[in-house]
Amino acid sequence: MRFDIITLFPSIFKGPFEESIIKRARQKNILEIHLHNLRDFTTDAHRTTDDVPFGGGGGMVMKVEPVYRALAYVKKQLKEEAKVILLSPQGRTFNQNIALELMRQKNIILICGRYEGVDERVRMYLVDEEISIGDYVLSGGEIAAMVIVDAVTRLIPGVLGNERSAKEDSFYRGLLDYPQYTRPAEFMGWEVPEVLRSGNHQKIKEWRTRKMLERTLQRRPDLLRKARLSPEEKRYLEEIKKSDPKL
Ligand SMILES: C[S@@+](CC[C@H](N)C(=O)[O-])C[C@H]1O[C@@H](n2cnc3c(N)ncnc32)[C@H](O)[C@@H]1O
Repeated sequence: MRFDIITLFPSIFKGPFEESIIKRARQKNILEIHLHNLRDFTTDAHRTTDDVPFGGGGGMVMKVEPVYRALAYVKKQLKEEAKVILLSPQGRTFNQNIALELMRQKNIILICGRYEGVDERVRMYLVDEEISIGDYVLSGGEIAAMVIVDAVTRLIPGVLGNERSAKEDSFYRGLLDYPQYTRPAEFMGWEVPEVLRSGNHQKIKEWRTRKMLERTLQRRPDLLRKARLSPEEKRYLEEIKKSDPKL
């Protein structure tokens, strides 16, 4: 899978894209990331990428022409169609289902806004969709782009290798993950649940399933309404509700 990121600040991506899972996915050639500095697509001596807003008001707006040229350049490098996404607080709110949807794309181009945002004609004529990473306003689209690249990358088959599968993470099945423990079995009198030390795989599996259901019920009941549960999971859920009427 290939991501092309159009940004005014390519160096922001250096740390996060050069460590851990993303680094290994790039080394294994499962993932390609290409950063494009928007200033390289300007034509004036000052390499201008923004201008004052029509109609007045404070701040600056990112110009349409450099974005147009950057997109044309990137698309020329690609052998197949790309999905073009503008990072924007006004877009569809990113979640695990959207990450799965994007994982099926071969090429994704992410455009990072700055200042007061991007000339509306970018949204109207140049992008397939806008994505927001949540209901708050960031200073730029770069961190949002990193969030999307990270969440999508860990879903690409082969990326997590021998590590726990992404299918076991929170949200994958519409449930929150169960609690995790590691050694020591006891610290400051705080003990790891006995069942996890029992070696009884059947019991451990049941405990984990029950914990996933309990946590989701306690913290995100909205997710449970949409989750597809097996008859066994439905039974566990009923038992959990009966055992704690406050839930
Ligand atoms: C300061 S924001 C502009 C916000 C714009 N004035 C508005 O209220 O919609 C600058 C850029 O940061 C990015 N951005 C800010 N918040 C974001 C969010 N929640 N999700 C994705 N991108 C975001 C967008 O690319 C945006 O163009």
